[in-house]
Amino acid sequence: MKSVPRLLAVLFALAVFSVAGRAAGPGPLLLGSAWYPEQWPEERWDADLKLMADAGMHMARIGEFAWSSMEPEEGRYTLDWVERAINAAARHNIVVVLGTPSDAPPAWLTSKYPETLRVTEAGVQIRHGFRRQFNYTSPKYLELSRRIAEELARRFGHHPNVIGWQIGNEYTEDSFDPHSRQLWHQWLQRKYGTLDQLNHHWMTAYWSQTYSAWDQIPMETGRSNPGLLLDYKRFVTEQWVHLQRNQLEVIRAHADPRQWITTNLGGLGWANRFNRTDIAADLDFISWDTYVGQGHLNPTRIGATHDLVRGWKRKNFWVMEIQPGFVDWAGIANSLDKGETRAAVWEAVGHGADAVAFWQWRAALNGQEQYHGVLVGPDGEPVPFYEEARQLGAEFARVGPALAGTSPESQVAILHDYDSRWAIDFHLHSKRYDQIETLLGYYAALRELTQSVDIIDPRGGLEGYKLVVAPNLNVVSPEMARRLEQYVRGGGHLLLGPRSGLMNEYNALSTLGQPGLLRDLVGAKVEQFYALLDDVPVSGRWGDGRATIWAEYLRPLAPDATVTLTYGRANGWLDGKPAMVSRKLGKGTISYLGALLEPAMMQRAARDLVQAASVNSPTIPVPAGVEVCRRVGQGREVFVVINHNPKPVVLDLPVGCSDLLRPSAQERIELPQYDVAVLQRNPAKPN
Ligand code: GAL
Repeated sequence: MKSVPRLLAVLFALAVFSVAGRAAGPGPLLLGSAWYPEQWPEERWDADLKLMADAGMHMARIGEFAWSSMEPEEGRYTLDWVERAINAAARHNIVVVLGTPSDAPPAWLTSKYPETLRVTEAGVQIRHGFRRQFNYTSPKYLELSRRIAEELARRFGHHPNVIGWQIGNEYTEDSFDPHSRQLWHQWLQRKYGTLDQLNHHWMTAYWSQTYSAWDQIPMETGRSNPGLLLDYKRFVTEQWVHLQRNQLEVIRAHADPRQWITTNLGGLGWANRFNRTDIAADLDFISWDTYVGQGHLNPTRIGATHDLVRGWKRKNFWVMEIQPGFVDWAGIANSLDKGETRAAVWEAVGHGADAVAFWQWRAALNGQEQYHGVLVGPDGEPVPFYEEARQLGAEFARVGPALAGTSPESQVAILHDYDSRWAIDFHLHSKRYDQIETLLGYYAALRELTQSVDIIDPRGGLEGYKLVVAPNLNVVSPEMARRLEQYVRGGGHLLLGPRSGLMNEYNALSTLGQPGLLRDLVGAKVEQFYALLDDVPVSGRWGDGRATIWAEYLRPLAPDATVTLTYGRANGWLDGKPAMVSRKLGKGTISYLGALLEPAMMQRAARDLVQAASVNSPTIPVPAGVEVCRRVGQGREVFVVINHNPKPVVLDLPVGCSDLLRPSAQERIELPQYDVAVLQRNPAKPN
């Protein structure tokens, strides 16, 4: 009996969706918003959805915190309202991304099963009243979150207006409860087999840490044994992968294959509580939530973050959340300037986003985030930012077809390796050593020259890149060493930065000294590293400049290893010693640079690296401070151009290019601050 109304509802949805499909509907480039229908009277939904559609927003993400509205008591699922919300969205040409609500378990669940509550490292059990209070390994939590995901997938897995799924929301906190500890011990046992092996690799004889039973092994994140710390990160990663798979399996089992599955990662992209490449591996594509917080758009950093995110799966991604002007959690939650959010949205698209959604549509009248930026105020009227969104909606509709099936393409890659990130962060040795800043130093210089740089996990392969820079490749396994050598011998150009190869895969110092397993490849060894108080002069192939924060001195071992940079007068130890060694190997080249360089020298370095590797990706000439992002595919070539300067710039349209946002513009256009042009290069006519 129950299935008859269900069938009617689906038929109805199909009908409205196909009618809607004829009107201006969702295009290949989607603009959308997080929408929480459970917070509003149903009579209001149509007005909200109409406002969304009027602004050209054709995607709504719903459901990710609605567990108590979807399952008010254990086993009683109330999903009719979800269906009505999805159908209402369809009536307005708005497709739906359905979130599984596992980030916010309801009060009945946490009080009935207190073991589902997370325990902090200090041993405090989190109470109800927020979100993310769940214990990510609790079997009961996993069982119940799987069940609700399954209910949703059964019910909406064939709904024509549901285009895809988001699992959970911004995975974040691990748990230190007894069950997680037990899993940790089992994980270690599986990895090492015997305690002797673990004691050996972690060298637990140090400080009498030798373990004689698995349950003696601590689970901690402070200044613990480095082998333990690195393994703990890998363990945490596996738990999140497991949590995600637990829901993914049931969605895949019930949903149409056309419905994709993603998750939205937070932590401003660079967070490293777990390995994000591993999370992305099981998903159809990855999404992330980009926020500025206090201050203004830093185009280099945010642009690099988009590239990092794209690197997790090496394909286009979604921005599932972006601030409509301002957030509510920054020290000073200032608004981005008028036009600045639009620039941020276009920057995301330029770097490979195929959809961008605001967080959020309208603030809940009560609840923790009342002050957050929105598109519609508590009175139901659009706020001033709504107009900026509307402009974006119109632009997405116009430009979407040209961008469909296109992606950024790079000949230069920077390596970002989670093991190395973790290992260096466990022991910085200099509080000034910031791995992200180091990476961004290379990125900024290389991107300015090439207008496209990938940031990738080396495990995914290096083939196809002419130049690869590994700024901080601290942990090197035999597999990684093999991969790098193969890349160089095959014709790649590789630059290793300081701290490379110091550790083996157990985060133990390599018995080969530094750079450990890369020693034969580099043809040199690092004699000693120094954390610098003051900058040190350095000169050679890249002219005269300064090493800053960190300096290692090298000794060539291979006869063909050439000293390409040398330290000037410093602490006595470094004086006159090699700072960089380079050699040809096979068809490629390898250089080891032992120092961090000041920006001016970095620019010269980048120019030389790009030239030596014959990088020749197509670029277009633009004034300084103007960002160019190139997307190619389907025989199309499109440049997103953004003026980040405080003043207007004049842009000469490159030959054969027209601005899709200003179709009548000829030859040159003026771009005020934050303004955007989307240039399409017409394919050259065959002779
Ligand atoms: C994100 C989160 C959203 C919302 C937003 C506020 O991290 O996923 O649910 O809280 O922050 O900026």
